[in-house]
Amino acid sequence: MTPPVVIESKPSAQPLSDGERTALMAAPGFGRDFTDHMVTIRWTEGRGWHDGLLSPFAPLTLSPAALVLHYAQTIFEGLKAYRQPDGSVAVFRPESNARRFRESARRLAMPELPEDVFVAAIEALVTQDAAWVPDSRESSLYLRPFLFATEPGLGIRPAREYLFTVIASPSGSYFPDGVRPLSVWISDDYVRAAPGGTGAAKCGGNYAASLLAQAQAAERGCDQVVWLDAVERRWVEEMGGMNLYFVYEDGRIVTPLLSGSLLPGITRHSLLRVAADLGHEAVESRVSVHDWRRECAEGRIAEVFACGTAAVITPVGSVRSTRGDWTVGDGRPGPLTMRLREALLDIQTGRVPDHHGWMHRLAHAVPSAPACPPQGADLA
Ligand code: PLP
Ligand code: COI
Repeated sequence: MTPPVVIESKPSAQPLSDGERTALMAAPGFGRDFTDHMVTIRWTEGRGWHDGLLSPFAPLTLSPAALVLHYAQTIFEGLKAYRQPDGSVAVFRPESNARRFRESARRLAMPELPEDVFVAAIEALVTQDAAWVPDSRESSLYLRPFLFATEPGLGIRPAREYLFTVIASPSGSYFPDGVRPLSVWISDDYVRAAPGGTGAAKCGGNYAASLLAQAQAAERGCDQVVWLDAVERRWVEEMGGMNLYFVYEDGRIVTPLLSGSLLPGITRHSLLRVAADLGHEAVESRVSVHDWRRECAEGRIAEVFACGTAAVITPVGSVRSTRGDWTVGDGRPGPLTMRLREALLDIQTGRVPDHHGWMHRLAHAVPSAPACPPQGADLA
């Protein structure tokens, strides 16, 4: 039997003062400031997961030969903790992130962190740093779990040592100007992922590979890149860090089918359910660029929006491409886009009952974090 993974707690003797923390949290950006603590768990071949530790947020020490720096064995997740009306804290669907994290690990030949240990690490950090969970509706505590190869070596093979880490950052809107329609550039020169590649995994290399196309989008005055399938360059896949939804004039909403090369977003999945709750037919289907353009011109596609943990739901207002430029609807945020956004945020911030069992409440999180004595938590 594998030994239980214990997360020992050694909290900071010098966390930020209430005043300093409140000042940082007054206008949270995205991923700019980090909480007082982090959680780390090591994995080594033969020993498995061990040395779980909650400790002060601090730089990591790494060999220059660590395999991650050369061959990019690294995966991550993104999820959020929300302040609830009674002052407690709940995390949105951490079990789903835990499952996707395991699937990403498998794709990159990395060890799979048991899902209960992933969730326990999240719980340990959010409970300790509960005072960092903002209480405004548009803000939350963004959690970033990641796993990377620490073993030194230059041979190309799966590493035999890894570090799992979770850090947390109080976050407002992902886009600096809040909810305003995005302009998007459809990339013809580059693809994000190909069949058989790593597109369905949340690995660092996918994001590095997207940056040049994102720069091209910016040169054309656009906010984000839209990726097409790698084979026919015809089917809409997703954006750099978000999935896409198309809203039709009859109220039906469509999101591109999981092709194996796009990320199975947890927000995307949640919206299939939330839309159905609101009485809308919500389906997964292929959408071609040609139809996107034609059906916008005909008024059949009324709204388009992007969705993801960081971006929540963000309207898409205009499209540029080598095949022409067009506007979605009147270019302004559409009514169903905004209704779905509010419905999802209502669930996440505890304004409506959570019929889907998505909110993971933390038993001991309180509005203001008390000083915790060192303790060990049995996670198995
Ligand atoms: N697509 C990509 C490439 C992403 O990085 C993300 C963000 O995690 C998403 C889609 C949306 O996924 P989720 O809703 O799980 O955050
Ligand atoms: C997220 O929404 O959590 C993402 O990972 C998108 C981006 C910040 C990488």
